[in-house]
Amino acid sequence: SSGSDDDSTSGGGSGDLIKVGFSQLGAESGWRTANTDSVKAAFTKENGFDLTFVDAQQKQENQIKAIRDFIDQGVDVIAFSPVVETGWDQVLQEAKDAEIPVILVDRTVKTTVDDPFATYIGSDFEKEGDTAAQWVKTNSPDAKIFELQGTLGASAQVDREKAFDAVMGDNIIGKASGNFTRAEGKAATEAALQAYPDMTMIFSHNDDMALGAIEAIEAAGKTPGKDIQIVSIDGVKDGLQALHDKKINYVVECNPVYGDQIADLAKKIVAGDTVEKKTIVTDQAFDQTITQDTIDARKY
Ligand code: AHR
Repeated sequence: SSGSDDDSTSGGGSGDLIKVGFSQLGAESGWRTANTDSVKAAFTKENGFDLTFVDAQQKQENQIKAIRDFIDQGVDVIAFSPVVETGWDQVLQEAKDAEIPVILVDRTVKTTVDDPFATYIGSDFEKEGDTAAQWVKTNSPDAKIFELQGTLGASAQVDREKAFDAVMGDNIIGKASGNFTRAEGKAATEAALQAYPDMTMIFSHNDDMALGAIEAIEAAGKTPGKDIQIVSIDGVKDGLQALHDKKINYVVECNPVYGDQIADLAKKIVAGDTVEKKTIVTDQAFDQTITQDTIDARKY
């Protein structure tokens, strides 16, 4: 089982603080920064934690190395947000062999390891993709859609795309990845504007890429939100401001602020309490009727 082990002498001077190794996948988006801030605010000494936080800069090998370091350090819990779904079998087995419980955060994995993690917490990406598609189906059923994909192989990309395409697949005229960043979203859109001159809509897997797309569309002398509609996922402040400014047409939220919930799960797991295998964070959606007050009141 994944409860605390009894090697209580390995505290290394951190008293009875819970040693946590957190491997964040990167700092690619406003969403990610808000998620990191939320994690750091929750895993404080005052709250009983000794946190080692490592940013992998969107590279799986960096994440694997960080997780191995956490195992060597003998942390009490490992938490990580996997940049892609596959390729974790070996390191998950190593954590399991070391009897260190793993909390999977935000993105999911595909693995052959049996019972590979203690718990998962994150959003329902398929539901997000479906919510976006339902809006398009109702409001712009004839749209010619270019799909701006997130990091290829990330569960956030795979699941959003699967659900969106299940409803609107016939309307998709092209796809390219913008790796969840503003700069790559802009570059992919510049290329798409050339390749697909008849496009009337972009479905972007996150706000940062949508914000990059807006720059590319405006630079091409077109009006985002009108000539080319934009539907996006996340709901970070900049994205919602662009929605309010009518440059984006619809935003499905992906809530990144759940550090406290991760910390609660970590405490319970270390205490040997049973936890739910899955916690799904609740998300909402916004259209252009969003008020400035709603945007100003958001923390991220
Ligand atoms: O995994 C969640 C996704 O990752 C967010 O939608 C995106 O902004 C982030 O980079």
